[in-house]
Amino acid sequence: MKKLAIIGIGNRGSEYLGLIKLFFGKKIQITALCDNNPEKLIRFGKKYKVPEEMRFLSYEELLNKGVIADGLIIATPDREHYRMAKAALLTGYKTILLEKPLSGNIEESRELNAITKEQNAKVVVCHVLRYSNYYSKIKRAVESGKLGRILSIEQRENVGYFHFAHSYVRGEWHVEADSSPSILAKCCHDLDLIYWYADSKPISVDSNGGLYYFNKDNAPCGATPYCMGGCKAKDKCPYDAEAFYITDNIFKAKFIKYMPVTVFGKPKVSKKEKRAILSNGKYGRCVFLNDNDVCDHQEVNITFENGISGRLTMTAFGERCERETRIVGTLGEVVARGGKIVMEIYGGGRKTLHSGWFNLPGHVEGDIRTVLSFGKLLTEGLVDDKDVTYIDATLVSHEIGNLAEISRKSK
Ligand SMILES: NC(=O)c1ccc[n+]([C@@H]2O[C@H](COP(=O)([O-])OP(=O)(O)OC[C@H]3O[C@@H](n4cnc5c(N)ncnc54)[C@H](O)[C@@H]3O)[C@@H](O)[C@H]2O)c1
Repeated sequence: MKKLAIIGIGNRGSEYLGLIKLFFGKKIQITALCDNNPEKLIRFGKKYKVPEEMRFLSYEELLNKGVIADGLIIATPDREHYRMAKAALLTGYKTILLEKPLSGNIEESRELNAITKEQNAKVVVCHVLRYSNYYSKIKRAVESGKLGRILSIEQRENVGYFHFAHSYVRGEWHVEADSSPSILAKCCHDLDLIYWYADSKPISVDSNGGLYYFNKDNAPCGATPYCMGGCKAKDKCPYDAEAFYITDNIFKAKFIKYMPVTVFGKPKVSKKEKRAILSNGKYGRCVFLNDNDVCDHQEVNITFENGISGRLTMTAFGERCERETRIVGTLGEVVARGGKIVMEIYGGGRKTLHSGWFNLPGHVEGDIRTVLSFGKLLTEGLVDDKDVTYIDATLVSHEIGNLAEISRKSK
């Protein structure tokens, strides 16, 4: 039985633990937990039968015990990844599943990659999209040769207006210095996909973008710092926090209601408590009068050594959260949108590669396959390199993101 420890048992960490238990219950035992929220330590400690002496409130306490597990998951907020992964590697952990991004700072990302090599360790970065059938089908279409010579790869990340407001205006990723630029926090996946499809070294990057809308210049007349603080524009505002988190029953509210712990700090909360929390809490802030500074729209152009040009558009503005891909070759093209992938050969007909009837555009399935791959690595040793997003492969997307920010900021 292999032993597994985890640092950070939030949305991602708890999902990974659940998947490990489901798929590797007989081969991997969850033996140590670390989270700076004591309630989570108790809740997950009971759930996975982890004794109290193996529950830790800080990663230093956990690592001070030495290497007490065969594998480690790090699923804390962005700003913690670098220092925790570095400390775990230097403590001697050899098999680590690390949430993305590595760091908002490229020097730190490079350093983590170098330490991983020095320590002869395996760090798998959660670039979960690469693992999904959906994106693998696009990759296979590119590799099939049927599209001819690939000329351009376009990727769009439509974050969705409500998701952007939740995560990048009010939530964990709204200030660059506390997390990372949105092009990395949200889109290191997408940059990674472009690089993976192009299968070539990037040789130039340029970018433009900014925080165009979620700032005080666009605050409606009568806006107040908190939606529930007497805002006169509340009824017509699509970002009203009360509607988002309490009263609106359509999809966008449901999406967010999956995360009551994130918004309200605990799984079960009465409406009265919710109102009290939103009236002065961070998720109750006006989206125009907050201290957010990350880009809400950005475009990145990449030229690869093999002549392919890549383009990523990340935008807050869209009704739905969805990714779109269009890959154009000399003989055909692939268009992936709304969970559907279609390949068209010029003058030669079209083929549906993915029907989209069961619309999980990559993420959930990718999460499962990432954990399957990590579990296999932990229990069986080396897994075929091309199936695993080891740190050195994912570093390239961080290099591109970093160059994009240099280009954007220096105009
Ligand atoms: N791979 C993906 O597709 C994907 C998707 C969403 C989020 N993420 C990334 O996963 C990470 C976690 O996101 P999440 O949504 O689970 O966040 P979350 O806030 O739900 O979970 C983070 C957990 O870490 C704990 N924590 C925070 N600081 C800590 C510290 N110093 N020591 C110990 N514990 C600490 C928190 O209490 C919380 O339980 C983020 O970096 C995010 O960017 C990745």
